[in-house]
Amino acid sequence: MKITVLTLFPEMFSDFLHTSIIGRSLDRGLAEVEFVQIRDFAHDNYKHVDDSPFGGGAGMVMKPQPVLDALYSVKTEQSYTLLMSPAGEPFSQKKAHEFAGKDHLIFLCGHYEGLDYRINSHVDECVSIGDYVLTGGELPAMVIMDSVIRLLRGSITAGSTEEESHENGLLEYPQYTQPADYNGDRVPDVLLSGNHAKIREWRILQSLLITREKRPDLFAKHELTKEEKKILDKYEKEQNG
Ligand code: ADE
Repeated sequence: MKITVLTLFPEMFSDFLHTSIIGRSLDRGLAEVEFVQIRDFAHDNYKHVDDSPFGGGAGMVMKPQPVLDALYSVKTEQSYTLLMSPAGEPFSQKKAHEFAGKDHLIFLCGHYEGLDYRINSHVDECVSIGDYVLTGGELPAMVIMDSVIRLLRGSITAGSTEEESHENGLLEYPQYTQPADYNGDRVPDVLLSGNHAKIREWRILQSLLITREKRPDLFAKHELTKEEKKILDKYEKEQNG
């Protein structure tokens, strides 16, 4: 996969791209990342990329000309362009899978108050990473790149993404490691039992209970499988009986 980032601040990405799983995945050649400095496409002597908003208001708005010239210097038929914006569609694990299937992802990172709205019709999707406002699209681009690159085959151990939070619409069950007893705080006995059927049942139940408590919105949307329903019914019976 090729990834192109259009930004005024490419230096924000350097540690991210060279650290841990993402650094290793890029070293292995799973993705290739390039940067385009939007300011290089400004025409005036002062390399202005922004101006004050028509109609008045606080802050500066990025001009269409340098941004779109930067975009069309790299966009091809194979490209899929994402505009980072708090006014975009919510990012999700489902979208991460969709983006991981693209040949060329372009991340367009605005800064200041935002981008001239005429730019929107030149991108494939506007994406938000959450209901809060950041100073620019660079952190959102890193968040999305991280979640996409780790899904590329060869990035992390096969199978280790399958049971994670959000992969089946539920939050993940709790994980534990050594020691089994940490200052009197013990790992649940079932995990030490070696009984794989019981462990599976416990994990499914925990995943359901945690999702119901922490994310009632996800729980309400989730269609219980037959197995999940049976496990939850058994638990409710035990609680009530
Ligand atoms: N730019 C500023 N805030 C953002 C957000 N929450 N998501 C995506 N891009 C942004």
